[in-house]
Amino acid sequence: MKPRVIQIGRLQASLEQRLAEEFDTHPLWRESDQAAFLAQHGGRFVGMATSIRLGADAKLMDALPALRVIANFGVGYETIDVAAARQRGIAVSNTPDVLTECVADLAMGLVIDVARGLSAADRFVRRGDWTRAQFPLATRVSDKRLGILGLGRIGRAIARRAEGFGMQIRYHNRGTVGDVAYSRAPSPIELARWSDFLVIAAAASASTRNLVSSDVMEALGTKGFLINIARGSVVDEPVLVRALGEKRIAGAALDVFADEPNVPLALMELDNVVLLPHISSATHDTRKAMGDLVIENLHAFFSTGQLKTPVP
Ligand code: 8YV
Repeated sequence: MKPRVIQIGRLQASLEQRLAEEFDTHPLWRESDQAAFLAQHGGRFVGMATSIRLGADAKLMDALPALRVIANFGVGYETIDVAAARQRGIAVSNTPDVLTECVADLAMGLVIDVARGLSAADRFVRRGDWTRAQFPLATRVSDKRLGILGLGRIGRAIARRAEGFGMQIRYHNRGTVGDVAYSRAPSPIELARWSDFLVIAAAASASTRNLVSSDVMEALGTKGFLINIARGSVVDEPVLVRALGEKRIAGAALDVFADEPNVPLALMELDNVVLLPHISSATHDTRKAMGDLVIENLHAFFSTGQLKTPVP
């Protein structure tokens, strides 16, 4: 008998297919009355497949009294109530490592784009402006100062790339990271003051909410660029929108937002802002690896009781 898994919403097609083939998977989203379905059948499921977007709250866990494992498609897991899962003895996995390189690639792409104005220059050519004017001079990336807020796996991968550009690197984490040669700035403000480019790579949590505040942006200054590939919640978004509009920072490149997929309208009009639809892990290669890791975690749990990549 295959273990019974509940899939609470749409996932990428290849993952849905493997879930259907390798487990006794039920697609909850196809139920017209999900609450009624859960009330009647919730006790049958031992596993759940979810994602950052879908999450899993305590109420859902209560509707699944036999649930033992939640496998999340994504390295972040802030939309899963991990404390509630622990209380109920439910194991939770995520998908670290497999997406690190693609996220770091995109972060460097954003650094270069916002500094050199790649997206803006592309718009300039498409508008036909090149026949009438010269594209304005931009900002050099090589040899500049890159501050990383959150030197975890992804932050380190960004730092490795930035070294290739001859950039100086500092970071801020709550504690000192032992095995790196980069200096730790004592606070996000100090890091921003030092940085030409401030890259946010910190996980979303209560302690990182609005960490990039008005004071941090002030410290980054009129020549500083903000790059966010982490979570919108780490930045005070209304303050960022104002700072960009008033040119109190030089520009921003954002893959993540406070209320995705809604992007503040005021940002759409600014040429010094690069806006991406949360695509840092969105390559065929990485998304396949993330899906495979979801499946591996479920198999490992059902056969050994241990997850391959439990959330920390
Ligand atoms: C998402 C991400 O997983 O892994 C994360 O934490 O933010 C992305 O890779 C992706 O949007 C799929 O849900």
